Amino acid sequence: MSVSDSNIRVIVERTSEQATAAAAGLFKSIVCESVGRRGCCHLALAGGTTPHALYQRLAADATTGELPWRSVEIFFGDERDVPQDHVESNYRMAQRVLLDHVPISPERVHPMPADAENIESAASEYEKTVRRLVPCDGGDIPRFDLILLGIGGDGHTASLFPNTDALRETGRLVYAGFVPVLGRKRMTFTYPLINAARNVMFLVTGSDKAQVVLGILGDSPNIKSQLPAAGVHPANGCLIMVLDAAAARLTGIAPKGA
Ligand code: 6PG
Repeated sequence: MSVSDSNIRVIVERTSEQATAAAAGLFKSIVCESVGRRGCCHLALAGGTTPHALYQRLAADATTGELPWRSVEIFFGDERDVPQDHVESNYRMAQRVLLDHVPISPERVHPMPADAENIESAASEYEKTVRRLVPCDGGDIPRFDLILLGIGGDGHTASLFPNTDALRETGRLVYAGFVPVLGRKRMTFTYPLINAARNVMFLVTGSDKAQVVLGILGDSPNIKSQLPAAGVHPANGCLIMVLDAAAARLTGIAPKGA
């Protein structure tokens, strides 16, 4: 991935609050555009801590009726191997901060069953659900309207961690496997599914992410094994990277209004 790529949009805001506001604005326009064109918006939420403020903002705005939540179908890009009510669960965070506060029916929210006894077969079941509900738009891979992602300090995204088999998966769209650096299993979207999306949005804040952001936006070839987020480039879609100045500080890209 490189900042000069035609289908990548890098937005740098001064503060993390402004970056969150920018991400919320893009989230809303993508959802409204998808529902306007296709009657539905299929989206995948990210886990971790960065999206928390974004979900809070979207929940606060829910009372305005601005977003057609009843036409949204929600999935998750990855999940930890914990029950859905566990404090580490990405689903639990999204449910408490966002989903409990917006008018979306529970049948349209699809948590990843990453705590299943057999996580590998649970991953293929989740893939079947994605294939059943998300249209392929003429291709053979379901096309999400928006996949929201974060980036870890080691360059991982979703649960695509450096030097893991998940990075080399080209057949399965949802993969579950052991992540040595965590000593745990994870379930995750794979590159084929992520890169089929119409829109992928990274929301990345904080100076601790500056080094990986520089690496990801650089031109070095084949770095995705070390920086998995660099393997995200939707072939026929738009990649949006929303950063605060701290996360962008090594790129030389000035924040908006600077
Ligand atoms: C997870 C996330 C993961 C996250 C990054 C960034 O399950 O942890 O899906 O990919 O986006 O680790 O996490 P922070 O936002 O907490 O920095």
